[in-house]
Amino acid sequence: MIDIHSHLLPNLDDGSQSLKESIEIVKLYKKNGYIGVIATPHHYNEKYLPLKSEIIESKKLLDKELRDRGIDFTIYLGNEVFLDEKTITSLKEEKIILMADSKYILIELPLHNNPNYAKDIIFQIQLMGYRPILAHVERYEITKSNFKFIEDLYKSGVPIQINLNSLKRESSTDYKLANKLIEKRMVQFVATDTHSAEIRNPEVKTELEYLRKKMGEHWFNEVVIENPYKLIENKSIKREIINNKTQHKKKESFLSKLFKGWRN
Ligand SMILES: [Fe+2]
Repeated sequence: MIDIHSHLLPNLDDGSQSLKESIEIVKLYKKNGYIGVIATPHHYNEKYLPLKSEIIESKKLLDKELRDRGIDFTIYLGNEVFLDEKTITSLKEEKIILMADSKYILIELPLHNNPNYAKDIIFQIQLMGYRPILAHVERYEITKSNFKFIEDLYKSGVPIQINLNSLKRESSTDYKLANKLIEKRMVQFVATDTHSAEIRNPEVKTELEYLRKKMGEHWFNEVVIENPYKLIENKSIKREIINNKTQHKKKESFLSKLFKGWRN
């Protein structure tokens, strides 16, 4: 497996705080069945804004340390981009790292404020030829209070990513929304969003097993295993048509039955 959302690289944001911690995290990744990650340090104006050159340098250091220790683990680069009015300019100025050199870009929204600008900026990003993925959709106040907000983005072609760590606490609202999205088959990516070796880490075997049992082998292989490889190869990601459509179809067949009855 490849994790597509991780703050594994040291000393760049609120993720790993040292090379030593990054090595511990890689060991946990391997223990949980991962062979690589797309490292996605924050690109968050006025909060965490590591330069591209610093990110590349941090990866070089970690790659070398892993090689020296004989640990086989692949790291691709990316960013987790906090969506705001500067995002389009940052993209034009090539300040943002696309995921594994593909056209995919991982974006996040504010956890609490209503991002009424989001749909418009996401649409502009798509028009520029990029493929935005919405990170940890289950965590935002806007997605918890307004499911239509997610449906609209999903219908406009935005793949949805949820955090495996959100499946750890059954009583949480994150858990409930993550499950709703999974059950509606609206999830294209699951990721760890690892920030450290202790909390929000790659210890996700239980959650992966939960998903395998709940959704079956076919879904698991496609979403958990194959989609990250498709992303890396810049291929499009298959998305199910959401349930509303099915309900619409049922209505149509009921009406057509009525119509047939009337004709006879
Ligand atoms: Fe993240």
